[in-house]
Amino acid sequence: MATATAVLPKPLWLLAELTYRCPLHCAFCYNPVDFARHGEELDTGTWRATITAARELGAAQIGFSGGEPLLRGDLEALIAHARQLGFYTNLITSGIGLNVERIERLKTAGLDHIQVSMQDSTRELNDFLTSTRTFELKRNVARLVKAHGYPMVLNCVLHRFNLPHIAQIIDMALELGADYLELANTQYYGWAMLNRDQLMPTAEQLREAEETVNRYRARIGERCRILFVVPDYFEQRPKACMSGWGSVFLGVAPDGAALPCHAARALPGLVLPNVRDMPLRQIWYESKAFNAFRGDGWMREPCRSCDERHTDHGGCRCQAYLLTGNAAEADPVCSKSPHHGRIAQAVEFAIRPTRDDERPIVFRSRQNSLAL
Ligand code: FES
Repeated sequence: MATATAVLPKPLWLLAELTYRCPLHCAFCYNPVDFARHGEELDTGTWRATITAARELGAAQIGFSGGEPLLRGDLEALIAHARQLGFYTNLITSGIGLNVERIERLKTAGLDHIQVSMQDSTRELNDFLTSTRTFELKRNVARLVKAHGYPMVLNCVLHRFNLPHIAQIIDMALELGADYLELANTQYYGWAMLNRDQLMPTAEQLREAEETVNRYRARIGERCRILFVVPDYFEQRPKACMSGWGSVFLGVAPDGAALPCHAARALPGLVLPNVRDMPLRQIWYESKAFNAFRGDGWMREPCRSCDERHTDHGGCRCQAYLLTGNAAEADPVCSKSPHHGRIAQAVEFAIRPTRDDERPIVFRSRQNSLAL
């Protein structure tokens, strides 16, 4: 357990997952598959105290997320509280529930930044992937955000189904006046891991998509900044997940569980401290969960002697667990991992042209969460 708090990093980023409730049913949602089994949401007072404690620890940015954070009636009050403490405030939303009155209230509360998710450039795929009819609604929300003077930030999760539409997705972003377009290839956690075989793209799809993105970048310049996040299953070195465990990221789940990363709930044996029971400072500096993979003392070979260990921090602990059964292994994305072959197997298995074992996509819903 760490005691010398002065030498430990401070959290910079607080992700406040206000609720697991969501009007959408995305097949690639990163929320835990068992979200419906977790306890009551924190009340307003506990969220305010948590936000205050995070600011005192040094956090400077806060993301209000979920589920769909607009479902919380106290969102404006929490934003105003965070803003008054000096946080830079972000809203990460599907857009469902955002109308003129609400966005004006958010603006009055001091909200700095809004990111809206779009699932595709076509109504058919947007509505299929979310199990809703929200395509037009989302486009209207994007216009609303822009009309209220916010930079237009669109996020689109990419996978086998919409990668062929990449040019149309960029055209849509330009038509809506987006200032930023984040094209984030699916990361396989939560519901996305459950649907990995159905969502996995081919290397060819990714190569073509990246070429298209680069062509657009050359043509449109600064008009819209396009971020293309390559999926790590197609890399030889892992991502520096969370910039290192217990390093900059502090998440709080709807029920108050403190998260060293978005997917930490998936790690068996990791007892997550709760902001209802333990002061946030103690959680960050002293809890077993936040120290479990902090620094490099936990590493085994090949990470332990690797000269890149301070760059990628051994990759992602949750991915290591999901693919090897042990969170302390090197992330199998790394070509030095003895389990690297599992990445290639997963890609090959998923893209076989005919599969007699193909399962239907499992959509995120309360009912499916309780059944799984
Ligand atoms: Fe948990 Fe990467 S998502 S460490």
